Amino acid sequence: MSSGRALVEELTALAEEAKSILGRADSFEHLEELRVLFLGRKGRLAQIMAKLPGLTPEEKRDAGQAANSVKESLTAQYTLRLEALKRAQDEAMLAGFDPSLPGRAPSLGGLHPLTIVSEEITSAFQSMGFEIVSGPEIETDFYNFEALNFPPEHPARDMQDTLYIGDNVLLRTHTSPLQVRTLLSRKPPVAAIAPGKVYRRDSDLTHSPMFHQIEGILVDKGVTMADLRGTLTFFVHRIFGPDTLVRFRPSFFPFTEPSAEVDISCVMCEGKGHVDGQTCRVCKSTGWVEILGCGMVDPNVLKAVDIDPEVHSGFAFGMGVERVTMLKYGVGDLRLFFENDVRFLGQFA
Ligand code: DAH
Repeated sequence: MSSGRALVEELTALAEEAKSILGRADSFEHLEELRVLFLGRKGRLAQIMAKLPGLTPEEKRDAGQAANSVKESLTAQYTLRLEALKRAQDEAMLAGFDPSLPGRAPSLGGLHPLTIVSEEITSAFQSMGFEIVSGPEIETDFYNFEALNFPPEHPARDMQDTLYIGDNVLLRTHTSPLQVRTLLSRKPPVAAIAPGKVYRRDSDLTHSPMFHQIEGILVDKGVTMADLRGTLTFFVHRIFGPDTLVRFRPSFFPFTEPSAEVDISCVMCEGKGHVDGQTCRVCKSTGWVEILGCGMVDPNVLKAVDIDPEVHSGFAFGMGVERVTMLKYGVGDLRLFFENDVRFLGQFA
């Protein structure tokens, strides 16, 4: 039988004891144990309060008030200690860490140099009104050779080492089939540019069995070689700079007549033929480097796609993206484009 006064004394003693113990809890686990011990459902405070029903109403009121204030103060003690422990944890985490140091940037990927240059080339032609077209990498003999004026036994077919897949089916050896496909699907005036992969049985220091070309075709009434020259000169100045010289050299292709190859002043020696008194390795001291083939679309090609060569005329051109990229960036080895060494690729990102 406990009296009210004895209970209040018990409560006061509990408050004293708990206060000093709680204030010394040195870990979250320890503090939690103490919370359960003093404030838990079956804890010390609860045990004392369980005796309240045996008191007179008056004693009950006094002891009840004392119990509530003990509970409040213990809870406050507990919270205070919990916050102190959290602060200590944060400080320990930050020790030896300098938040003012710059962050470590994640490494981002970039476009492949061939993609960059290919986009530069196509956008130069797009700015002149050319549209971009594409076609299949697996072609038939008709599109790759026949419609382009390569007769069946014509020696010009030997100009390219073709990868055949079956009778008359092959991996396209150039993007020129897009001349035929474009003229079959559109009526003049037509101006189109066709970037894509091409394949040849060729592999050495300067040849890869797969490489990239960009084809151009323009057909309208009254198109002349002067239009071809103006168009390609604009392109050269966009890609290699406005001081680059351009020259047309007579050449031969079955699908153009007349045909030409375009040279630009050497990107290495700027046309001088030598660098620091040494023979220029890029142009072999000629001062010029070849960058593409072109010509006026052969009347036989126009006939093959049902366009009357008496009414319409046009020009075509084709270039290798690897070659243009090597010249533009001074890359000496073709294989660098296909080895995917990030130390090489990262220089273009
Ligand atoms: N198709 C030729 C090649 O692969 C490049 C070419 C030359 C394309 C002259 C043309 C052109 O359109 O007119 O070597």
